[in-house]
Amino acid sequence: MKKQIVANWKMNTARAQAVALVNALKAKAGQGSPHFDLVICPPFVWLADCASLVAGSAMGLGAQDCHAAEKGAYTGDISAPMLKELGCSYVILGHSERRQHHQESSILVKEKATQAIKNGLVPIICVGEVEAERAIGQQEVIVARQLDQSIPDTGRFYIAYEPVWAIGTGKPPSLEDIRIMHDFIRNRIDPSRGVAILYGGSVKVSNAREILATKNVDGVLVGGASLDAEEFWGIAQASPTHKG
Ligand code: PGA
Repeated sequence: MKKQIVANWKMNTARAQAVALVNALKAKAGQGSPHFDLVICPPFVWLADCASLVAGSAMGLGAQDCHAAEKGAYTGDISAPMLKELGCSYVILGHSERRQHHQESSILVKEKATQAIKNGLVPIICVGEVEAERAIGQQEVIVARQLDQSIPDTGRFYIAYEPVWAIGTGKPPSLEDIRIMHDFIRNRIDPSRGVAILYGGSVKVSNAREILATKNVDGVLVGGASLDAEEFWGIAQASPTHKG
């Protein structure tokens, strides 16, 4: 499987910036057949613009959240069928910023993931411990619980391991800590589900090569560094070239 290089723009970009960013990535991707898969997850409001730009390219489109229900009286929310109709193939779910600021539980994340899969989207389910949990060695207990409660019963999904203390701090875990947690996640999930396990949290050009070469790291979820086309492209290009 090619490495999955996913951009999480969060609540960033003006429309012109979003368009420029996609165009810059498209120009780079058009120069040859890359040895990685690129997915961009813009804010909802630019999804339609980005969908028309990535149409016909190898770049995938994703959203940053969806509602657990198919439709209904949920003012301000966005459904999985709406995202599918817009051209999305992926949706990030249970990001720590959603868990923290919107009190999202793993139970809710599972409901959202189930709805996403029903509508043909691949959920990218985020898990990860906070600093205080790692300080007392509880990271595997926390991640295990998040996995057990948020993984949908059937269908294809990705996991993104994002230690909360590494997000936007410039301080990723050691490669050994990444390897240990990715092994743990791999062993926790039924192998028949063929899950891709991404790492996220302070991924940059300067550390991408080592992280992407780490065992059981199938790709990266990139926040801040994905807002710069050069930087994000550099991260993608740091993917190992061998297949497998
Ligand atoms: P970061 O964010 O790359 O800015 O640390 C990653 C994420 O939150 O997905």
